[in-house]
Amino acid sequence: MKTILVTGGAGFIGSNFVRHLYSKYPNYRLLVLDALTYAGSVQNLPEGAFESDRYDFWYGDVRNGELVDTLVAQSDVVVHMAAESHVTRSIYDNRLFFETDVLGTQTVANAVAKYKNKVERFIHVSTSEVYGTALGDKINEEHPLYPLSPYAAAKCGADRLVYSYCATYDIPAVIIRPFNNFGPHQHLEKAIPRFITSCLLGESMTVHGDGGAARDWLFVADHCDALDRAIHAELSTIKGHVINIGTGTHKTILEVAQAVQLAMQPVAKRESLVGAVASGKAHDANRFASELDEAAKIQFIGDRPGQVFRHTCDAQKAKELLGWEPKVGFEEGLQRTIEWYENHREWWQAQMWMRHIPILTASGRKEMH
Ligand SMILES: NC(=O)c1ccc[n+]([C@@H]2O[C@H](COP(=O)([O-])OP(=O)(O)OC[C@H]3O[C@@H](n4cnc5c(N)ncnc54)[C@H](O)[C@@H]3O)[C@@H](O)[C@H]2O)c1
Repeated sequence: MKTILVTGGAGFIGSNFVRHLYSKYPNYRLLVLDALTYAGSVQNLPEGAFESDRYDFWYGDVRNGELVDTLVAQSDVVVHMAAESHVTRSIYDNRLFFETDVLGTQTVANAVAKYKNKVERFIHVSTSEVYGTALGDKINEEHPLYPLSPYAAAKCGADRLVYSYCATYDIPAVIIRPFNNFGPHQHLEKAIPRFITSCLLGESMTVHGDGGAARDWLFVADHCDALDRAIHAELSTIKGHVINIGTGTHKTILEVAQAVQLAMQPVAKRESLVGAVASGKAHDANRFASELDEAAKIQFIGDRPGQVFRHTCDAQKAKELLGWEPKVGFEEGLQRTIEWYENHREWWQAQMWMRHIPILTASGRKEMH
């Protein structure tokens, strides 16, 4: 029997994780704290949970010290993921990012320090964005921190804040740095849901720059498995550590858009295209695209300022300390994600107007990203 507090549990990763815990551990009591910003929704929470006595939802702000103290004081484990999470949005309005991501983390970390006799462990969900562009092939936890966007800088501040609390107050913290997640319940502002819904709506997919920015794409269920292991691993082996979570491979944004295009073609056409690609007949992006339906074309737009050009995870430490390895390959994860968006139009239709975000470029031009 454990009580687990999840902050940001009504968002994309948080709600996948809360559903994972709720169905896997019937003996655990779950506390969810979420301010239900544009990114969070009670629709994401486990079915039937509101009627359950092992689940409490708290609509509130992670910067509210009194509320956070009350919830942390009852918890054996705190998993902190409440944050403003969208890089592009941080370009035009970044104040909230520093307030929520840094001061919210400070509030939670203060409460953990205050109740450290009760709190067995504190899992802080950071991000691979703190590293900036990879200096070598793969990024391990020793890679220098070069955040390139206000979002990344805010998360970097939070990440180092938690580290400093381990050193100063000896809190039982673990810092997890996940790479790019995708899967069901992700907001339409993020690339993969935007691509999928563009295909469903018969619109072109917009890709930043030449589409060459590469990321390590982690299916959200694998991330939840890693967090589950971080809750249950022997504390002495992970306390004070930073642990990367990613697949060790990368795909460019253009490759991801093409994978979505292909996966969403009718089966017969898809098979003939796969054959064409395999035989080298459709090797370049434009020719490949010309074989696809008009509806699923790729449109290139200006590059995102502060773009990270490549991120590939070295997850050796996660394997050693958590016994974790990803189980869901990119194609399978994408298929599961596409099916979810195909079957949940009512969930995402309300977010349509937020798919494209205005930014001001360094030259003062307004662009929709
Ligand atoms: N999505 C990714 O690819 C990714 C990758 C690495 C790390 N992360 C990190 O994982 C965490 C979760 O990311 P996500 O993609 O699920 O984000 P998300 O934007 O989908 O969800 C964030 C949640 O936090 C809540 N929230 C925001 N401000 C709050 C506040 N002041 N008080 C309480 N709740 C608040 C929102 O309502 C929402 O439910 C974040 O910390 C993010 O930085 C995300």
